[in-house]
Amino acid sequence: MTSQPTGGTVLELRGVGVSFGGLVALEDVSLAAAAGTVVGVIGPNGAGKTTLFNVVCGFVEPNAGAVLFEGSPLRPRPHRLASQGIARTLQGVGLFRGLTVLENVMAGATHSARAGLVSAMLGLPRSDRDERRLRDEAMTLLDELGVAEHARAWPDTLPYAVGKRVALARALVARPRLLLLDEPAGGLGGDDVDELAALIVDLPARASAGCSVMLVEHHMDLVMKVCDQIVVLDFGRVVASGTPGEIRDNPAVAEAYLGAEVQS
Ligand SMILES: Nc1ncnc2c1ncn2[C@@H]1O[C@H](COP(=O)(O)OP(=O)(O)OP(=O)(O)O)[C@@H](O)[C@H]1O
Ligand SMILES: [Mg+2]
Repeated sequence: MTSQPTGGTVLELRGVGVSFGGLVALEDVSLAAAAGTVVGVIGPNGAGKTTLFNVVCGFVEPNAGAVLFEGSPLRPRPHRLASQGIARTLQGVGLFRGLTVLENVMAGATHSARAGLVSAMLGLPRSDRDERRLRDEAMTLLDELGVAEHARAWPDTLPYAVGKRVALARALVARPRLLLLDEPAGGLGGDDVDELAALIVDLPARASAGCSVMLVEHHMDLVMKVCDQIVVLDFGRVVASGTPGEIRDNPAVAEAYLGAEVQS
């Protein structure tokens, strides 16, 4: 857990509702994520976690309520998220197969830097200095995440846990102020989950790209370990919200999970 001084609210949802046809996926969901913290969204299958994630990414447009980023209304556009100060990793790994690890991370940079990369790949004139700076930043991130030795490798050849770290580096290279992680521990074994937990806890305080984090996750151990605040969804509604300790002791949460997973 981080003990960062909080600098206001980075992300706020006010009364967000999403329906798919007749099915209500989210109803009157409100939450506030303090800057410099890690917020976890948990809940049983079908609770609306991915839908909430997709609302913040702009994949799903809510039919009620508002989303605010750093105090201003956010109209998220998936392809413009990076320039809006938000980055995400998707479930699984999702690296570009035709690019090396280093190029994958460079491709995650902000819009303007990406234009540089595209021109680089097309052999167009470009600023060598920008290119070099971006390359250095990408290498630094790979190094910080402990996977620099794989910089020249192709994604297909990477162990799964390494691929997940590369995807994290790609999200961080854009220097997001909010990082959204969809099931970051999905498919990882015990030791890898512990290492990932240590990485996530450090994100808000990182010198180069300190940012707030919101993660959607099934892995209760990880959530309990890394989150400052946890929001519990059940049937599309917020049934509890609080610190890991409060959530662990909350009967409504135990009920949502039928008492099973919560007893980590
Ligand atoms: N595009 C869609 N069209 C119709 N219904 C959807 C769509 N996306 C999600 N749903 C429904 O909305 C509800 C919430 O789904 P969501 O995927 O957000 O849950 P979840 O908490 O992420 O579940 P899981 O833990 O299984 O990933 C579910 O009943 C789901 O079937
Ligand atoms: Mg989901």
